[in-house]
Amino acid sequence: MSKPKFYLTTPIYYPSGKLHIGHSYTTVAADTLARYKRMRGFDVMFLTGTDEHGQKIERRAAEAGMSPQDFVDQIVSSIKDLWELMDISYDRFIRTTDQQHVRSIEQIFTRLYERGEIYKSTYEGLYCTPCEAFWLEGQLDEGKCPDCGAEVELTNEECYFFRLSKYTERLQELLETPGFLEPRSRAREMINNFLKPGLEDLAVSRTSFTWGVRLPFDDKHVVYVWVDALFNYLTALGFPDETDDVKRYWPADIHLMAKEIVRFHSLIWPALLMALDLPLPKKVFGHGWLLFGGDKMSKSKGNVVDPVILCNRYGVDAIRYFLLREVPFGTDCNFSTEALITRINSDLANDLGNLVSRTAAMIRKYFPEGLIDERVTASPDPELRQMATELPAKVAADLDELQYSKALTEIWTLVSRTNKYIDETMPWVLAKDPEAKTRLATVLFNLADVLRIIAVLIGPFMPSTPNKIRTALGIPEQNAAGRSLTDWESALELDLYCAPSGVPKTDPLFPRLDLEKELEALEQFAD
Ligand code: MSP
Repeated sequence: MSKPKFYLTTPIYYPSGKLHIGHSYTTVAADTLARYKRMRGFDVMFLTGTDEHGQKIERRAAEAGMSPQDFVDQIVSSIKDLWELMDISYDRFIRTTDQQHVRSIEQIFTRLYERGEIYKSTYEGLYCTPCEAFWLEGQLDEGKCPDCGAEVELTNEECYFFRLSKYTERLQELLETPGFLEPRSRAREMINNFLKPGLEDLAVSRTSFTWGVRLPFDDKHVVYVWVDALFNYLTALGFPDETDDVKRYWPADIHLMAKEIVRFHSLIWPALLMALDLPLPKKVFGHGWLLFGGDKMSKSKGNVVDPVILCNRYGVDAIRYFLLREVPFGTDCNFSTEALITRINSDLANDLGNLVSRTAAMIRKYFPEGLIDERVTASPDPELRQMATELPAKVAADLDELQYSKALTEIWTLVSRTNKYIDETMPWVLAKDPEAKTRLATVLFNLADVLRIIAVLIGPFMPSTPNKIRTALGIPEQNAAGRSLTDWESALELDLYCAPSGVPKTDPLFPRLDLEKELEALEQFAD
């Protein structure tokens, strides 16, 4: 039987400067979902990329004294390096300057024009260049862009318009469809803020600058950058050609992003697809913002935290863990060094790291020749074992709902229970009693076996930690019968722990950090 498919996307980011930890947030969440779906047997297509056209990039390049193409090339290469550093397992990386994308956009626009979905007129109104967004006077916040707070500019130019208004009713129906836009509160926001006041047709071309895709039927015009960008989700699959990838992967299963661009994805994007009679994405998810000192972290505000510095200093898995654990995915999260160091110390160094090193050290010390095979079960083994058996289904249910933080909390509940199991069983006391050798072996086996399961379940979140745990406990990739000890199914079964080559001495998984020292050290990197 062929595998079911799962197509997920991140926004394509503007290469207008180095990316920050806010961009990493969405990408890490997407990567975790992609890894989880692959483990569950899906044929995953995970797309990310860069949104390279538009006025903002053109201006930034000019400020840097470079051609737009040279300017974006250098930033895109740093973005790819960042994703490599952060273990982002994307399947495809699209750049809107890719020739194939540009040709596709030309064809798509010709198709929209021929179908009467776009027409020529004049746009007179307000434009926010940092957001590349058109605004009406009444939508401004104290005269400024309601999304980013920047000054808006008055523009008056000839434009092609897309007949967005004609899709109002169908969009209303779509937004009311359970599951299409999540969290649900965002759907109500879209209806109240945009559909109720009435949708206007959308300007989809510009003539006041040149860095973009030219309209094939009127080459004074370049395509409005948001429309150019939204189609990436289809052009990356080869659209408008009817490629195997288009047939296999479209419609997308989920578009992930933060809340400020939900309106582009839940109004403009579906309407464009409706205009082309194409299937709509199954889900748009708008997560919360990473805030810094209470303000949205953003390049234009300068309050950004560099993920490269954080990953190099604390390890990628610790940063990924923090991002996904700290708050529920739909909610804003205040980023602070204190919160990060506290999490690393409590959850990773103390709870998980210690559990692994204590277990490994006790097996090495009490059974230098390897654990004996006899077991004798006693309380509290059944309770621990039952929790471990129930965990994979809970984690799966949480991840299917993008409840990353809840899934990690569930896993750490088992980590804590396992630590408590050590306190209750007191292996060091058992070790003094030669009669208790079998019981001691059972306790240590249970500890290592639960850690084997935990290692599998944290894999999607923290890609390199599972192997470190397995190495520390001597667990091979497969057991003697050729059974994988790393796949999802292996987490559903108890008693698979084995260490055929013994338990080596390894470094701690997550060294404990000194908060004061870290605050001082990170201070040096602040802008
Ligand atoms: N180029 C458009 C997206 C086009 S998609 C067809 C764009 N680019 S962006 O570089 O500004 O990226 C915005 C996205 O980056 C957000 O929606 C979110 O996914 C991520 N984030 C950027 N800053 C963020 C925070 N401070 N917090 C959380 N996510 C953040 O918009």
